[in-house]
Amino acid sequence: MQVINTITQLQDYLQKERAEGKSIGLVPTMGALHEGHASLVRRSVAENDITVVSIFLNPTQFNDPKDLERYPRTLESDCTILEKCGAQVAFAPSVSEIYPKPDTRQFSYPPTDSVMEGARRPGHFNGVCQIVSKLFQMTDPDRAYFGEKDYQQIAVIRRMVEDQKFKVDIIACPVIREVDGLAMSSRNTLLSLEEKEIAPNIYRILKESKTLGLTIEETQKWVVSQINAIEGLEVEYYSIVDGDTLADINDWSQASSVVGCITVYCGKTPIRLIDHIRYK
Ligand code: PAF
Repeated sequence: MQVINTITQLQDYLQKERAEGKSIGLVPTMGALHEGHASLVRRSVAENDITVVSIFLNPTQFNDPKDLERYPRTLESDCTILEKCGAQVAFAPSVSEIYPKPDTRQFSYPPTDSVMEGARRPGHFNGVCQIVSKLFQMTDPDRAYFGEKDYQQIAVIRRMVEDQKFKVDIIACPVIREVDGLAMSSRNTLLSLEEKEIAPNIYRILKESKTLGLTIEETQKWVVSQINAIEGLEVEYYSIVDGDTLADINDWSQASSVVGCITVYCGKTPIRLIDHIRYK
């Protein structure tokens, strides 16, 4: 596997591979790789001739500087994981390589990017669209792979791809969970042992909420009260939305796809955990 740090080198490499008719899969990441990322890389390796994995901690999508500061950085072990998965390229550019000058582009796709995470983390999805669009321009991939764990992110990226007319297939891959049900996330390494014990309650309660036969409003209230009753967990929001547009709905029959998206603060630091469940 090659580790490439500059855009020119990456484009020179990809140009040669493309000229030989090879297909390109892109897996955008911010590093701190875990089994969830590995599953995306393995899928790209199986479906493309060349897999490029970008490792770039994108500053423009962090609205909280402390969150950026404490985000785990593990380039060496990330490269070991990528080698094992069979990726051809780890693209690990510097911030100045990607943003030689500030990126002033504005992306706006309401309600998809303005609800839930969009409402609580101003500028977050704009930053995601900035970096993902740059990566698409640099690599011109046939397919790009994203984890469904960040459900809203995929919906926003699909809108961006449609709007900017990128010719790329967005492949959404299922959430990979620990055996106790906790959704894998780079942020999980920041959890203490105690916090790791209580965090799996989030998915347990989400799953149970599917079995109760309640209305949307009742389900929302039930999930929030059950999670908040656990010491060390506090729900920031729980929204049951149209699974495609992410618009709020108030009746199960209002959309063909219905998803519940949750963000929970866990522990004293606290660590912000995101999860979701599909109702239909
Ligand atoms: O999901 C992530 O890790 C990031 O938001 C992404 C898509 C790599 C963009 O920085």
